[in-house]
Amino acid sequence: MSDYHTSVLLDESVDLLNVKPDGIYVDSTMGAGGHSRAILNKLTSNGHVFAFDQDLDAGQNVILSDQFTLIQSNFRYIKQFLKLYGIAAVDGIIADLGVSSHQLDQPERGFSFRFDAPLDMRMNVMSDVKAIDILLQYSEAQLVEIFSKYGEVRNSKTLANAIVQKRSKMPLHSTFEFNRWLEPLILGPKPKYLAQVYQALRIEVNQELQALQQLLEDGYDVLKPGGRMVIITFHSLEDRLVKHMFKFGNAEGTPIKDMYGHMEKPWKIITKDIVTPSTLEQKNNPRSKSAKLRVAEKVSQN
Ligand SMILES: C[S@@+](CC[C@H](N)C(=O)[O-])C[C@H]1O[C@@H](n2cnc3c(N)ncnc32)[C@H](O)[C@@H]1O
Repeated sequence: MSDYHTSVLLDESVDLLNVKPDGIYVDSTMGAGGHSRAILNKLTSNGHVFAFDQDLDAGQNVILSDQFTLIQSNFRYIKQFLKLYGIAAVDGIIADLGVSSHQLDQPERGFSFRFDAPLDMRMNVMSDVKAIDILLQYSEAQLVEIFSKYGEVRNSKTLANAIVQKRSKMPLHSTFEFNRWLEPLILGPKPKYLAQVYQALRIEVNQELQALQQLLEDGYDVLKPGGRMVIITFHSLEDRLVKHMFKFGNAEGTPIKDMYGHMEKPWKIITKDIVTPSTLEQKNNPRSKSAKLRVAEKVSQN
């Protein structure tokens, strides 16, 4: 347990990673370092963990060990960074997606509708696009697309139209100003509606699905045959993407075979049924409720 973040599905995910004592592992989403630490505990002095986190704040949790390297970057660059460190292939990759509790609980980051803050929502504060840029610059059609797709907001057309009308008449800076714009549009319970709208903006700001797809594709290339990919998702679109990539080797979920009948990037699925947090974990950590764990093993293409 840490004030920064409580790890989700910790034992289940690290057990399913099948850690080899001398292995090299990637923790794609270090956060408070719960998964990294659990992997390190299973390694001999020959093993190593390379951990990514694009949020500079995660640097405060760096693990001081010769067997640990923190890479303060987006995990979509996994291939490039491993090459930089002279690593040709790894034994396993884990990702625990989404935001940390720390990010949600820091008012000034703008991830939460509960605090008055600038509309930011960037995990990487060096990146260009903030939530405010999306709200002020996206076309009405683009806004409909992100609210319906990423937030499953039922009245996404009405919402997008209201944003476009309002922004032509008045300025927008903060979460609470934005919440006031949303007030007359809310359908169903207010916290649920606001959570869906904020989630959609966050996914777009951080290009979360695009980064995940890159991790799944490039992760396959850097895994040793028999190496495992363990992914914890918190959104149905993320879970669908992982399911499709593991089953078909592509995001669309269509079987594509080469002229010899071989599938692209084949995986052996380890979790026939998805793994979810126990009732006890959900009770102790309500943020774990939507977590889904899938695991697959790289099958050699030769
Ligand atoms: C749910 S937390 C991970 C918690 C961690 N497993 C633990 O046990 O403490 C997700 C973390 O991943 C980071 N993150 C999310 N997407 C990322 C990406 N594309 N590249 C690098 N870091 C990312 C976030 O900044 C956040 O700190």
